[in-house]
Amino acid sequence: MVLVSSPGKVILFGEHAVVYGFPALASAIDRRIYVKAEKNSLGKIVIASKGKKTSFSFKSLKRRRGEFRYILRALKIAFDTLGMNFGVSIEIDSKIPRAAGLGSSAAISVAVLKAAYYIAGEDIKKGKLAALGHRVELEVQGSASPTDTATSALGGVLFIRSGKAIEKIEIRQDISLIVGCTGMKRSTKELVAKVKTFKETYPNIAEPIIASIGEITIEARTALANGDYQKLGKLMLVNNALLDALGVGNMALSRRVYSAIKAGAAGAKLTGAGGGGCMIALARENRELVLKALGKRAFVTKISKEGTRVEHL
Ligand code: MEV
Repeated sequence: MVLVSSPGKVILFGEHAVVYGFPALASAIDRRIYVKAEKNSLGKIVIASKGKKTSFSFKSLKRRRGEFRYILRALKIAFDTLGMNFGVSIEIDSKIPRAAGLGSSAAISVAVLKAAYYIAGEDIKKGKLAALGHRVELEVQGSASPTDTATSALGGVLFIRSGKAIEKIEIRQDISLIVGCTGMKRSTKELVAKVKTFKETYPNIAEPIIASIGEITIEARTALANGDYQKLGKLMLVNNALLDALGVGNMALSRRVYSAIKAGAAGAKLTGAGGGGCMIALARENRELVLKALGKRAFVTKISKEGTRVEHL
């Protein structure tokens, strides 16, 4: 039996643009998903979540629909790459809100992969874990950048660009992030498709917006490494405006972004795919005021330096 945990994430800069080869800056957060796993002799996959148990045959591993599609696909990829199948019982306990842009699907994918390798008696290096996690998201969603799965697997703050080596950014001062959530669930797949349609319909308009988001992310990387709080805040607001221009903002997100600014945040923006989900605000001195302004679903989070890990029981 093993207990594995993986962190959720926030995208600090560059969501959507990262799908088109521009960089993203993402941070693992201190909210985790916990996966308890052990081999069983039933020759089945048994998943326990929120007090309910469901069994699946090995044939169901290819499913691309249903609540447990990421878990089943992660197991399929683990079995394929390990070259073996075994019955496994899995128990999920998540502290990451679902479908909210906080990387819960990526976290569950990498945690299940890590757990399956562990109980098969094999070690899996972080780089391989991130790559296999990305494969899970690609196979389930049809398209996905490596951002969420790499951040959950490796932890810390990462500068990520498709096809290039992932860079870990050393942060000198801890940044205080406040996450404000709308409570509106949304689908990353649909929002990525919406941006794609906009880009195909109006390439001359959409492409410069996407390229500007890429430039903002490059500027933000230096500001982050230098601890230039004010500049980071300003860049967040410009990034948010460009995400609005791409059509992924909404009133619930904008209201929170401007409430955070009014309460004294240095900057704020939506995080993840948009269309609902959550936003982030950067606030040091006025943290309590910003937290209050963002309402009951808001929380303060720290960067999680650690990615996926085996918890010692
Ligand atoms: C989702 O967290 C971020 C997007 O950029 C999609 C992706 O990177 O796959 C919207």
